Amino acid sequence: MEIPKRLILDQTAIARRVRELGARLSQDYRGLEPVLVGVLKGAFIFLADLVRALEFPVEVDFVRLASYGAGTQSSGEVRITKDVETPLTGRHVLIVEDIVDAGLTLEALRRHLAARQPASLKICCFIDKRERRQVEVPLDYVGFIVPKGFLVGYGLDCGEKFRTLPEVYALDSG
Ligand code: IMP
Ligand code: MG
Repeated sequence: MEIPKRLILDQTAIARRVRELGARLSQDYRGLEPVLVGVLKGAFIFLADLVRALEFPVEVDFVRLASYGAGTQSSGEVRITKDVETPLTGRHVLIVEDIVDAGLTLEALRRHLAARQPASLKICCFIDKRERRQVEVPLDYVGFIVPKGFLVGYGLDCGEKFRTLPEVYALDSG
């Protein structure tokens, strides 16, 4: 497997930013015992690093979403293939997502989880990619803003490839 050549975020930059986000979350959520909901599969590495940067206990759960359509653009129709198992009513919920592109996936998930009537519902995403945004989803915590391109690594994949790379790269075909 040949590694893509255009490096966007190196390990040092990622680690520093995750520590900063962890510090902010520690200020905002201390004592609230939040549930962090990771969006599979892409967010698993970001979530794993993020929870270890927190100075207070949290619960972790996962959802898995399938967006209809293949390739590098999501179709907008979203199906939940694995739901959260933790009761969320009255809990402080933080969605942890890898990347927001059109915003359709996250908006569908936000509505789905809001229906459980959590005490609060916020979003933390690793990368905010604004160029193709179609829905203005409120992003409360953002790791990096990257204007465009198709990104891989640190959980992000292209057809299941490159997910395990410790840095983030852009694919030139993106
Ligand atoms: P959207 O915001 O509805 O367009 O979909 C976002 C989802 O598409 C993310 O959760 C990713 O799974 C995937 N995605 C969007 N952009 C990229 C990218 O640059 N690299 C890898 N996956 C991406
Ligand atoms: Mg995703």
